[in-house]
Amino acid sequence: MAYETIIVENEDDVALIRLNRPEALNALNSTLITELADALSEADNNDKVRCIVITGSEKAFAAGADIKEMAEKSFVDVYNEDLFGAQVQVIERIRKPIIAAVSGYALGGGCELAMICDFIIAAENAKFGQPEVNLGVVAGIGGTQRLTRIIGKSKAMDMHLTGRFMDAAEAERSGLVSRIVPTAKLIPEAMAAARKIAEKSQITVRTIKEAVNRSYETTLSEGIRFERRAFHSLFGTEDQKEGMAAFLEKREPQFRDR
Ligand code: CAA
Repeated sequence: MAYETIIVENEDDVALIRLNRPEALNALNSTLITELADALSEADNNDKVRCIVITGSEKAFAAGADIKEMAEKSFVDVYNEDLFGAQVQVIERIRKPIIAAVSGYALGGGCELAMICDFIIAAENAKFGQPEVNLGVVAGIGGTQRLTRIIGKSKAMDMHLTGRFMDAAEAERSGLVSRIVPTAKLIPEAMAAARKIAEKSQITVRTIKEAVNRSYETTLSEGIRFERRAFHSLFGTEDQKEGMAAFLEKREPQFRDR
């Protein structure tokens, strides 16, 4: 499918989605966020896709929601259209793993989009921030909630209240990103991580994503109960038999997603 603001390339069993509004540092306007939600749904429903990578350009993953598009809107406008509501819910419900490959600015909605992904690989030049305070608004795609859970209250308050940017090294120290790679190697490294995930049993991968995400939504004891049930349930799969047999026979497993 042809999109106006994103480019989708399927390489082997990985869908690589590039945000592509260079004139606005990939700011999330209504077209981009709608196309992104559509492309992610399509990848989620495509049996050939086993992992997804979202990236931007070298200068910007995304510099936030599109300020030009929002500036003149009233409360009634954004409330009635539920600005970002429907599309973000679609993105949050994607079941396949999504890696954010972040180079340059990931600000406001760009940082929030990266945090919705399952993990973030940062280029050395990455900069994260929640500068909405400078525009007279608060984050609107989960930034006050996700950033606080990920890096803790003190740093999250600092980022949201001052609007300062965090570089890749601080983001890694804070647990916001899983690893930092040289800027020129961002896409190959992210694709290599995605291919590694794509090799695993998809039923196991989706269960892991569901279980880890459950830790944000429930109490520790309920989360542990959920995990134990998930662990038990995977013994009903052929892939558990294959994975354990392969280990014992000292060979690579051949998973069949069953
Ligand atoms: N929305 C719309 N356009 C944007 C944009 C945004 N968020 N960020 C950058 N642009 C545009 C600029 O207007 C500029 O376009 P023009 O040439 O037509 O003027 C172009 O992208 C290049 O930007 P700059 O000239 O500003 O580039 P720079 O290198 O000097 O600065 C920057 C880069 C520090 C990222 C700066 O562009 C900036 O501060 N951007 C805004 C960041 C921001 O406030 N994000 C939060 C948005 S609100 C939000 O996201 C709410 C939410 O949670 C949902």
